[in-house]
Amino acid sequence: KQPLRIGLIGFGCVGQGFYDILQAQSGLDLAITRIAVKNPTKPRMLPAERFSYHADELLNDLELDLLIEVIDDPDEAFRLVSTALRQGRRVVTANKAMLARHLPELVQLQTQFGGTLLYEAAVCGSIPVIRTLDNYFIHEPLRAVSGIFNGSSNYVLTRMSAQGFGYGPALAEAQAKGFAETDPTLDMGAFDPRSKAVILAAHAYGVFLDADEVLNLGIEGIGAGDMARAAAQGRKIKVVAAVQRLPNGHVTALVTPQLVGPDSPLYTVEHEFNGVAIEAVYAGTQFLTGRGAGGHPTGSAVLADVLALQRGLRYGYTKQATAPEAQLTTELELNA
Ligand code: HSE
Repeated sequence: KQPLRIGLIGFGCVGQGFYDILQAQSGLDLAITRIAVKNPTKPRMLPAERFSYHADELLNDLELDLLIEVIDDPDEAFRLVSTALRQGRRVVTANKAMLARHLPELVQLQTQFGGTLLYEAAVCGSIPVIRTLDNYFIHEPLRAVSGIFNGSSNYVLTRMSAQGFGYGPALAEAQAKGFAETDPTLDMGAFDPRSKAVILAAHAYGVFLDADEVLNLGIEGIGAGDMARAAAQGRKIKVVAAVQRLPNGHVTALVTPQLVGPDSPLYTVEHEFNGVAIEAVYAGTQFLTGRGAGGHPTGSAVLADVLALQRGLRYGYTKQATAPEAQLTTELELNA
C-alpha cells in the first residue's frame, strides 16, 4: 500500500515539530513528499534538495494526496488554502488569523468543490477543542466556551508573577521557546486569542463573528505593581477569552485580562498551557487543559488532523445558531 503523500508548506516551529513527530513514529503510512519554504538562504535541519522554494509547485503537484499549510502570513495562507480547496483537495492548516478572517468563504469552498479543511492545531495547540465542540457537543445548547487561549501571554504572566522578573525578559523566553508569533503584538495584544475565539464561535454556535467587532485587550500595560496587587489578593492575572450566547440569542466574544482566584480552573493553568471551559446546559461544565503552544504540541495536533482526514472527518458548523437557552423545568427525583 502506498503511503499518503503529504505536501508540507512552511517549515517553521510547527512544520518542524510535525516533521519531527512523524520521523519518530513508524507504521503511520504517511510520507512528507515535498516541503515548501520561502527563504532559500536560511540554514535548515534538512539538506537543501528537500525543499521547494515556491509553494505553488506543491499546489500544482496533483500527486500529493494532502497539503499542510503552516506558514506565518495569513494573506498568502488564504491564497494557498483557498486555491487548494478550489482544486477539491484535502488541506490541514494551523493559521488562526487566516481562519478568523476567512472562515465563511473557506466553508463555502469546501461545499462547492468537495474538498476538506481541518484545523485543530489553530486553536489551543494540542487541546482537541474544535473536535469536542464540533463532533461531540451537537446534542445540547452551550452557555459559553471560555478560557486561556494564548500560550505566550500566559507564559509571560506566569514568569512575571515571580518577583523581579520583567515583561521584556519573559517575552524573550516565550519567543526562544517557540511559543510566540513572529509579531509578538498578536500574542501580547490578545489578537491571537481573539482569532481563536472567533473560530470556536463557529463550532460552538455555528456563527461567524467578525474579529474586528470583538474587543481584545492585552497585557502590554501590566506591570510589577499589578502583579503584586493580584498576589496580595490571592489571585492571578490571566487573559481570559469568552464566547457566549446571550439570553437574546446573540453570540458575543470578548478577550481581556482578568483577576482569577483559586476557585477557577484557570488559576492553575500556567506557562504555555491553555485551558478551555465548555459550559453545557445539561452536561454542566467541562474543562480541557494542555499545551497551547510550541512546535511539538502543535505539530501533534496537525498530525491528528492528517489522520482524521484519512478517516474522512469533516467539520459540521451546524450548531444551534438560533436555539434558545434551554430551561430545565423539572427537578429529577432521586431515590423515587
Ligand atoms: N502564539 C500562539 C500562542 C501559538 O502563544 O498561543 C499557538 O497558537
